[in-house]
Amino acid sequence: MLESRAMSLAVIVLAAGQGKRMHSALPKVLHPLAGRPLLAHVLQAARALEPDQILVVHGHGAVEVRAAFAGARVEWVEQAQQLGTGHALAQALPKVARGSQVLVLNGDVPMLRAETLGRLLAASKKGLAICTCDLTDATGYGRVLRDARKRVRRVVEHKDASAKELRIREWYAGFLAAPAQRLAVWLAKVRPANAQKEHYLTDVIGIAARERVQVATVKATDPWEVAGVNSRHELALLERAYQNAQADKLLEAGVTLADLWRVDVRGELSCGRDVAIDVNCVFEGKVTLGDRVRVGPNCVLRDVIVGADTEIFAYSLLDAAHIGRRCRIGPFSRMRPGVSLGDEVRIGNFVELKASRIGAGSKANHLSYIGDTEVGERVNIGAGTITCNYDGVAKYRTVIEDECFIGSDATLVAPVTIAKGSYIGAGSTISKNTPPGQLTVARARQVSLANWKPRKK
Ligand code: UD1
Ligand code: CA
Repeated sequence: MLESRAMSLAVIVLAAGQGKRMHSALPKVLHPLAGRPLLAHVLQAARALEPDQILVVHGHGAVEVRAAFAGARVEWVEQAQQLGTGHALAQALPKVARGSQVLVLNGDVPMLRAETLGRLLAASKKGLAICTCDLTDATGYGRVLRDARKRVRRVVEHKDASAKELRIREWYAGFLAAPAQRLAVWLAKVRPANAQKEHYLTDVIGIAARERVQVATVKATDPWEVAGVNSRHELALLERAYQNAQADKLLEAGVTLADLWRVDVRGELSCGRDVAIDVNCVFEGKVTLGDRVRVGPNCVLRDVIVGADTEIFAYSLLDAAHIGRRCRIGPFSRMRPGVSLGDEVRIGNFVELKASRIGAGSKANHLSYIGDTEVGERVNIGAGTITCNYDGVAKYRTVIEDECFIGSDATLVAPVTIAKGSYIGAGSTISKNTPPGQLTVARARQVSLANWKPRKK
């Protein structure tokens, strides 16, 4: 992209508005779509163009917005008072390198595609290019007025439009491109003489047209690509559209989805061959599913890698885990961060794991807490086993070596090592290391009192 461009490119993102119609304390551009702020989506599309500069005009909730993007390679421009989109652009333009081509984006139009923006830039070489759409209801958007020869005359905002103008179907999508210097000249002529008493960026279009500048239009072919987020309802619709697009990609790649409308990917999901995902699963962060992995209904997987042929049963919640091949997980398994499982491990219902390694072929099938633990291979952990890893101040590690058998309801008080092949009697509280290959029992002996009589009432 960079080589084919004669001029340098500056992308300016308008993101200073409060988003009144969201009725929220959170600045609008921080509201999440697919788990990431709206602004993150816009910046991603901007970066794909490899611009020389990205400037973000921010204002409402400035500290919060900057904090959410700490370390991002953008220039922050503050618009202390939100006097309109034209005023917002005017704050950023002086910071653009001389002779640049400028691409202006709305921070609340998150599903934009770099390919469309590329077409817009190509169309703007001579003067001004705007992105428009006429595929959906234009309510709320600025309408594009054309003359008898179909040339763009101006854009009129919904709130300023006459009844006749409101019937126009073509609307301005919130992206325009022009040379920086010309844009500055047009922008200086914008006045806040309108229903909202704001400096409208869209007035630039009429000003340029009056100066006989040809206004090129690039049409978006997918209405979702240019849909803006002004209300919670619009955001909710966009979330479904985004998720449906992801579901389509998964299906296309050969993944089985029990219901394409009931899967949520809030990050990156990569799947091997013949993966099957049941309804209502949520994938967050970076999730990788190996060949033939099956995920049951209502599972949440966040930053998880799953080996081939593993099956995850219903209602499992896995966070930052690395799972081997041919494992069986759940139903109702919980993994907190830092879990790594070898191959053919079985983790059953109501088992919570945290910061633990479980060796190949080991099992914890029912009702356990295993934290800060190193479990060897072919270990059987009985129902109700608890590792007591915390004394109220510090955390300690438990080691269970290969081929141990931990009886039901054992409590293992860390730091403790259960040596290879140990058997632990059910109900034992183990606070000392055990010798290998022996049965250790640590519980009161059972007594029966032959002469005992129940008291008479
Ligand atoms: C704007 C366009 C409208 C277009 C629509 C497309 C104007 C006047 N209208 O309307 O023609 O159809 O987008 O989605 O441009 N902002 C600032 N500073 C301000 C005001 C707004 O940075 O003083 C930012 C907002 O944070 C937002 C963007 O500019 O990201 C657009 O503002 P918004 O108020 O949502 O404009 P719309 O009414 O949607
Ligand atoms: Ca908007």
